[in-house]
Parts: sequence; structure tokens; C-alpha cells
Amino acid sequence: MIFRVFLLLFLSTEFSVLAHRILILSPIASYSHANFIKPVVKGLVERGHFVTYWNGLLSENQATDFLNQTTNLRLLYSPEVHAISSGNIIDFSVRKKPNNFIFGLPKRMEKYCETIYRDPVFHQLMDSQEKYDLIILEAALNECSLPLVYKFDLPFIYIMGSMPLPWHLEAIGSPLAFDHYPQISSNYADEMNFWQRTYNTLSGIVAIYYWRWMVMPVIDRLAAEMLQIENLPTIEEIEKHYLNLLILNTNMGLNYQMATTPVVIQAGGINLGPAKPLPDDLETFVNGSGDAGCIIVSFGTYIKNSEIPDDVRRIFLSTFARLPQRILWKWEDDKKIGHRESIPSNVKLMPWLPQADLLGHPKMRLFITHGGVNSIQEAVYHNIPLIILPVLVDQPLNAQKAQDDGYAIRLDWDNLTEEILFNAIEQILTNSSYAEKMEKVSELMRDQMETPLDRVIYWIEYIIRHKGAPHLRTASRKLSLHQRFLFDVMLFRSQRRFQRWN
Ligand SMILES: *[C@@H]1O[C@H](CO)[C@@H](O)[C@H](O)[C@H]1NC(C)=O
Ligand SMILES: *[C@@H]1O[C@H](CO)[C@@H](O)[C@H](O)[C@H]1NC(C)=O
Ligand SMILES: *[C@@H]1O[C@H](CO)[C@@H](O)[C@H](O)[C@H]1NC(C)=O
Repeated sequence: MIFRVFLLLFLSTEFSVLAHRILILSPIASYSHANFIKPVVKGLVERGHFVTYWNGLLSENQATDFLNQTTNLRLLYSPEVHAISSGNIIDFSVRKKPNNFIFGLPKRMEKYCETIYRDPVFHQLMDSQEKYDLIILEAALNECSLPLVYKFDLPFIYIMGSMPLPWHLEAIGSPLAFDHYPQISSNYADEMNFWQRTYNTLSGIVAIYYWRWMVMPVIDRLAAEMLQIENLPTIEEIEKHYLNLLILNTNMGLNYQMATTPVVIQAGGINLGPAKPLPDDLETFVNGSGDAGCIIVSFGTYIKNSEIPDDVRRIFLSTFARLPQRILWKWEDDKKIGHRESIPSNVKLMPWLPQADLLGHPKMRLFITHGGVNSIQEAVYHNIPLIILPVLVDQPLNAQKAQDDGYAIRLDWDNLTEEILFNAIEQILTNSSYAEKMEKVSELMRDQMETPLDRVIYWIEYIIRHKGAPHLRTASRKLSLHQRFLFDVMLFRSQRRFQRWN
């Protein structure tokens, strides 16, 4: 008996040494970013940590279903935040004015912060007496939640479901690399001529200052008005003080290279794994495609197919009608395409596709996509060449890189014709160079010392073990931007030279 009690005690203390309490905040969420965070949540729970997860995308039912079996996961649900996160549909026309997104940020953040600062879940956390060891914050537009980091007085980690935004790199003191790392929505590659580098640098600096001077003050104002916390530091101060790690959905075999400090972890591909068997009806459709095989078409969750211009949709359908392949098109239910008779017989429309499992099917030949980072990673993992029609943010860059690396063809929404689309499909299906390049990059992407998940878990636990990692942050983040770029040093030198000449 005594022995048993002893054993129990021993086991439970050993367990409690390993198990930590982690608060994961992603009230402003998107499906693609959530796909990057979920494996991390699952991984932490399986390691025995106690995770409290506020994911704005989860509906009440999902909140009770998702990983319901485990006792060490608690999901927080709030209807208003869910309404905002699940209703974030991107207007197809933004592709023509990518900067509108940046200039719309103050209004957008105002709406987000007002919602969050009124939310019962936020206040429940704000007033909570619970102890946590670490906070993980979804990095895309969740800065309104930073007062919680201050309240708990804990190191926090940003987890970003795509490439980093310039203000994330600035906040953690990682090189901004404007000379070779193209800005989001810049449409450049890593080799830029003088004017492109000028624009890349200026737009990056403008983005950082715009964020700091036009967006962060909005958050500060709302936090001051709505939260009434005594001596609350500014959002910028909280971020700089408590931010200890930045986890990115990038992969060195796939993305343009950027030098990073040790506290930037590249974990792209974290959600990849062997394909699972398809549901019976899909398996029958796909397997029935014979030698010609199958093509998947999906433009992600944010672009509504009803937004695709009618003439472009007709180009797709008439091109598909000429192909021997079977085509699966992710098409959410909408009125425009209700007339089944106008759909070619080799095309099947489905509101949802198990995309990764389909890409892993031996009959799959080609993936036509908008070029979201998760879609590209899934295609590369399963060795399926791509045709990419990018719409916004990082998609043009992803498309350009994939085309430059020779495993994808990039097309443009605005001058698409049946001939252009048909020729691109023909090229991919008949020219072996795409498959060969794809095989090469697929190998590069998989060739890693440890799995991205193991890497992420190691670093999260590292931050907990050492109560942050201030020793790994560069002093660079304490410099102003003109100091970081050594503008002052260069100016000093040119002044000296000028004096000598006189
Ligand atoms: C796929 O189709 C072939 C015949 O074309 C058939 O022999 C095979 O059993 C099918 N596989 C599955 C999993 O249905
Ligand atoms: C389509 O338009 C893009 C720019 O919008 C241009 O770069 C490309 O060359 C055009 N393609 C053709 C075939 O005209
Ligand atoms: C195959 O594709 C490569 C890369 O785009 C191209 O250089 C080559 O000319 C193509 N070959 C044929 C036969 O079209």
C-alpha cells in the first residue's frame, strides 16, 4: 500500500515536472493559419501539457468535439469573435490594389479590438487567477490580445501561419533583409534590380512605420478606453518586452532565403503527413479516371468562387471539357453554377475537398490553385506539379518562386484565355521537366534534421524551461531603423569624405 502511494507520488511528480500550462490565443483566426497551429496544439497536448486554446474559428459544437477525448485541452469559445473570424471573406478585387489591405488596417484593428475587449472570454482570462507558464499568440492581427500577456507577465511566442510581416521581424530584432527578401504582395523575386530593391526597402519601412504610428495607437487607445488597466504599457512596449520566439510557416527548401536570429523558427510543413484513404464516392471518382488521371482545382477558403468573373469561370469549364482527365473543383454552394447541364461530364464540383489526401492519391496529375502556402507545401510533399493563379498577400511570391524553381506555371487572372490555360495544362501533363523539378524540391523540403513539429515543441519547451530567451535576441531590436540599416554610419562616412575633399 505504502509502496503504491509512493509510486503514485513519484509518477505524478515526474509528470508535473514535464507538464506545463500553456495559453494559446488566436481569437482573430483564419482557416489557413489555424491549420498551421492545430498540429502544435495537438503536439503539446500529447506531450502532456495543459493547453487552453482560444480559436476564434471554432463554433460551439466544434469546441466541444475537437480533441474532446483529452482532459488536458480546454477550448474557449465566444460567439462574437467566431462571427468575425469565420466571416472574413476576401473580396476578389483586392488583387488589383494590394496596398488597400495595409491602409485598411487601422479600421480593421479597431473592429477587432472592440470586439475582443467586449468579449466575456477575454475578461474571464483578464480576471483569472490561473497560472500559466507561457502564452502563444497567433501573429496575424492578434495584437489586441497583448494586454493579456502583460496581465500574466509571461514570455510569449508569435506563431505565424505564413511568411513573416516586416513588423514581426522588427519586433524580434531579426534582419529585415530588404536586399534579397521580397515584401509580401511585392510581386518580386529574391534577385531585384535597383528600383525593385528601392521599392522593396521603402515599402517595408513604410509598412513598419505605418503599423507603429497608425495601427498600434488605435489598439492603445481602445485598450485605454475599454480596459482601464492602471499603467498599461503601450502595445509596442509589451510586444518588445515579452516576445521571445517567432515560429513561421516557411521552409528553407521552398521559400526565398532570409537570414534569421536563433529565435526565428521555420516550421513549414508541420501539418503534412501520409495521405489517408479517400471516402468511397471520391475514391470511385478518382480511381475511375484511368491512365489520364485527375486534376484538383481549389482556390482556398477565402476566395468565394462566386466572386470569380463569369468569363473566367467559363474559360475554366470549356478548357476542362477538352481534357481526358477527371477534374475535382472545390466549389462552395452558390446560385451561379446551379445549372448542372453547363458542367462538363468530367468535372465534379464539391463544397469541400480532403485536399492533402487527394494530392497523395496515385491518380493525381496536377493541382490548380491560388498558391496559398499550405496548398503549395501539400503539393510539394505529395509531388504534384502546380498551376498557380495568385490573388493576394504572399500568393504572388509563392507563385513566382514555384515557377522559378520549375515545378509550377504561374498564370494571371486578368488575361487568362482558354489557349493559355490549355497550353499550361498540356505543358505540365506532357513535359517531364515539371515532375522532375518537383521531385527534387520535394526531397529538399523533406530533408530535415528533425520533424518541424519536434522542432517547434523543443523550442516552446525551451522558452518555458528558461523563462524566455532574452539571451538569444539580438540587441538590434533596441536600435531605430536608420541605425539598424547603418544609415547613420554611412552618412558619417560620406561626410568625412566630403570634408577631406574640401
Ligand atoms: C481501381 O480501379 C481498378 C480498375 O481500373 C481496380 O482494379 C481497383 O480495384 C480499383 N481500386 C480501388 C481502391 O477501388
Ligand atoms: C498577363 O498579365 C501579366 C500582368 O498582369 C503579364 O505579366 C503577362 O505577361 C500577361 N501574359 C500574357 C500572356 O499576356
Ligand atoms: C519543358 O519545360 C521546360 C521548362 O519550362 C522548357 O524549358 C522546355 O522547353 C519544355 N520542353 C518542351 C518539349 O516543351
